[in-house]
Amino acid sequence: MSAIVRSVQAVDLAVTDLAEARQFFEQTWHLEQVAEVDGRVYFRATQGYFHVLSVRQAERSGLVRIQLEAHTREAVDIAYERVVAYGRPVDGAPRPLASPGGGYGFGFVDPEGRNFRLVHGMERREDRGPVADRPTKISHVTMNCRDNDASFRFFTEVLAFRLSDQTRQMRFIRCNSDHHSLVLGFSDNAFLNHIAFEMPDAESLMRGIGRMRDHGHPVEWGPGRHGPGNNVFAYFCGPGELPLEYTSEMTQMTDGYHMRKPEEWRWPPGRLDHWGLTPGPSERVKKAQSFFPFIEGGHRID
Ligand SMILES: [Fe+2]
Repeated sequence: MSAIVRSVQAVDLAVTDLAEARQFFEQTWHLEQVAEVDGRVYFRATQGYFHVLSVRQAERSGLVRIQLEAHTREAVDIAYERVVAYGRPVDGAPRPLASPGGGYGFGFVDPEGRNFRLVHGMERREDRGPVADRPTKISHVTMNCRDNDASFRFFTEVLAFRLSDQTRQMRFIRCNSDHHSLVLGFSDNAFLNHIAFEMPDAESLMRGIGRMRDHGHPVEWGPGRHGPGNNVFAYFCGPGELPLEYTSEMTQMTDGYHMRKPEEWRWPPGRLDHWGLTPGPSERVKKAQSFFPFIEGGHRID
């Protein structure tokens, strides 16, 4: 199956305190504010994406949508036909978008009711290369699934994601050389589990832990090194208890990668990561990982 998605480019968030979120994402999370249009504030990371995050004020916090970047305009058209044939809601046919950054795309809803948009050809910004202490891009988004098989079929059959590894808790799926760009959790709800931003190296991740602590957001799990993806991690609760991760050093996939099954991913008793430095996730972050809903109607691109 030919490739459709090139990356998980951005997330659009609704927050209950825009001023707080704006300060947090710039001063503490170390993104850079690049635009404000119709009450939405856009932030970039150091790679050349137009934005990786937008925030808007709302009565209840949640995810408006996840934005996927398509390889080509044709890939957008192919995906649209497939999403419609799959019976999932769309916001109309692919078209030039009037939203900031432009591009050609459409919005849709996945089998768990989560909102996405698929876009090709958005405006690019200067790629700054790796900058110490600053996120490079979105690494991955992890989503709880009530029906993991249904989501897995959708993302692999419709959007051509590929399975990298599977544990008893999660399926890790990829669309580029990163080991995973989306993660589908086996769960009893369809809330956001967390959004991970890539740091250029582990030193930047460690400094990020300190900066987050200085600003009242202590690390809730980490630092550690995960099994699947072998990436370094640190989890936090951001504004409104938004579950966030800094990560670095994720496995880059090559031909011949041995995909492991749940029975092959087992930690020794008392361990949840390669280093064993950190206790498991805090009660606070576990709660935050089943708290953030997708906002109904967020697939309609405005
Ligand atoms: Fe993660």
